[in-house]
Amino acid sequence: MSDPLVIRPFLLPARGVARVPGSKSVTNRALVIAALADGETLLTDALFSRDTLILIAALRSLGFEVSDDKRIRTIRVRGLGGKIPARTASIHVGNAGTAARFLTAFLALSPGGRYELDGDEAMRARPMAGLLEALRGAGCRATAPDGGPATGFPFTLETSGRLGALEVDASASSQLLSALLMALPLSPGSSVRMRGETVSEPFVEMTMRMCAQFGRPLTHAADGAWSCPAPGPYAAAKEYAVEPDATAASYFIGLPAVTPPGSCVRIGGYAEGGLQGDTAFARVAERCGARIRTDGPGVVVESWTKVASGDFDLNAFSDTFLTLATVAALADGAVRIRGIGHTRKQETDRVLAMATELERIGLKVTPASSALRDDACLSELTVHPDREAMRRVASAGPVRIRTYEDHRMAMSFGMLGCHDLFGDGRPWIEIEDPACTGKTFPDFFSALDALRGRFVRVAVDGGAASGKSSTSRALAARLGLLHVDTGAHYRTLTLALLKRGARADDDAGIARTLSGLRASSSVTGLAARLAIDGVTPSDSELRTPEVNAAVSSVAAHPAVRAFLLGHQRAQAEAARAGGFAGLVMEGRDIGSVVMPDAEVRVFLEADAAARERRRAAEGMQDPIGHRDRMDSTRAVSPMVCTPGAVRIDNTELGLEAVVDRVAAFVAAAAGR
Ligand code: CDP
Ligand code: CDP
Repeated sequence: MSDPLVIRPFLLPARGVARVPGSKSVTNRALVIAALADGETLLTDALFSRDTLILIAALRSLGFEVSDDKRIRTIRVRGLGGKIPARTASIHVGNAGTAARFLTAFLALSPGGRYELDGDEAMRARPMAGLLEALRGAGCRATAPDGGPATGFPFTLETSGRLGALEVDASASSQLLSALLMALPLSPGSSVRMRGETVSEPFVEMTMRMCAQFGRPLTHAADGAWSCPAPGPYAAAKEYAVEPDATAASYFIGLPAVTPPGSCVRIGGYAEGGLQGDTAFARVAERCGARIRTDGPGVVVESWTKVASGDFDLNAFSDTFLTLATVAALADGAVRIRGIGHTRKQETDRVLAMATELERIGLKVTPASSALRDDACLSELTVHPDREAMRRVASAGPVRIRTYEDHRMAMSFGMLGCHDLFGDGRPWIEIEDPACTGKTFPDFFSALDALRGRFVRVAVDGGAASGKSSTSRALAARLGLLHVDTGAHYRTLTLALLKRGARADDDAGIARTLSGLRASSSVTGLAARLAIDGVTPSDSELRTPEVNAAVSSVAAHPAVRAFLLGHQRAQAEAARAGGFAGLVMEGRDIGSVVMPDAEVRVFLEADAAARERRRAAEGMQDPIGHRDRMDSTRAVSPMVCTPGAVRIDNTELGLEAVVDRVAAFVAAAAGR
């Protein structure tokens, strides 16, 4: 067990880009489907956590080629069209529910296979019987170590290679059904019917939508049978972007409810209507007082107006109930959460665990933990907030929250601990085993910490090929800053002027053409891009020899600089409103003219020969010496390293080392 972690309350509003990992449910489904596809699939923004690594390792032990790059969050899988190379294997699924169920049904597709499967202590107790029984109907044998029919891990699975017409009792977990659904297209003529009710429609829906995304839509007939009308291997996807984990995102929707007013957190890639049912949490949060708005590719969550009491049915997105239950500690009245009975059989008995820990911090819950312990059928929880009681309990020091090897217990109470309960920054919550977040969100606590601190503006200036763009891009990604490349502004405007017939040496013509142009900006990922009359050119259009040759003369025109200056200065406000942790703007006059009051100002240098070599290596025809001379000798806004800016010569310094240095200045300015 890892050492306990004391949570530091936020003294400043939370702000920045939440580093939410990819969805576990989507990543693990995509891995299984990709292995059953014909050819290679590249998964981007994938989750790297214990559960996905277990599945990756299992696929490798079955003979699949899987390569991954954790740094850039990609996984490449070579699918074999339904063939499973290893006829025998010994697989340990840890406590990974999706891996356990999905693999078991997947293995059934192997004719004459014999596989030894086991899970850890907690997994051995989790529901599996429904799936094993269904597979018996497919001619598979699942045998327990004592030789009898297995109802859970560990077991030996002897496989038939086909499914047939199956019935499954998936009332204990929808994963039992999803596992079979993903295997269906590979076994022509097969069907699956449910006995009893399923608990999580949205996950079944996610499975069906993903089967369709990979080219094998399933149908669900009126008589209840699922089947694949056009069976066969899945179609490999050249690139498949995994959605951010909607459950993990819920902690960042909740955070601005517990941190000081003025909080503003950005969650990239999050959208309602995605594959994950848990995005419905956003609507519940809004009913409680959350302020959430769509902003480009993602949402921005601002300080909640309040945490309102209420009665909520979280049955369809129950993984998020722990987020609501902990935020409810600060509500203005009782919060009732219903429909969560099935979570009592998940990583731990979550309803009991939540009740026990809320009582530990001083709150009354109904039913009380003692009643829950006596009655396994109770399926709801009402939280009765009481700040005074919480203060009394924590007055002796932080309360240690037990986590029951449940990542969601650690994360939800970790979020609540960010609240400044005493108003003086004193910590009041300590998480018993913080590393248990490794199951889905290994970096959860550092992702929380990344949202502490003041808004910081970074000005990066320097000559051509001095590393401004690479440094700024990497800094933005590391710290959640909005990245504004003003060189691209001058290039975009130069291209627009050239296209309209204006010449760089014709002052009057440039002024006339400018008066008819309209500038606007849009955000993709972390980058703000300029559009002229609604058109944002591609990077290659901005770096043609024609633009390279004209841009510095165009940029020397006072009218051109005036046209862009207001737009550039407005970016700081746009970054603030967009929930970014700050702004990094690069160019020639950022620290001198555009943002002379920026908290961090950097001037990058590299010797001329090195810069020439860099451009040549990029295969570009670019008169950089000439541009540098024009840029530093022009009358308006010449390129200068102003007093107070930090000069960094990176001739011999790698990009990471430069970014480390600048990031340290930003951390100091942000007060982190
Ligand atoms: O990438 P590289 O450093 O070669 O150039 P850039 O940053 O794309 O900038 C292209 C040109 O725009 C520069 O040579 C300057 O003439 C002009 N520029 C400027 O005058 N002021 C800025 N803040 C940014 C760029
Ligand atoms: O934006 P700017 O023109 O100042 O330069 P850049 O496009 O970021 O970098 C130009 C080239 O220098 C790129 O190929 C970078 O990979 C390389 N570079 C480097 O070798 N070492 C650095 N510290 C920064 C950039």
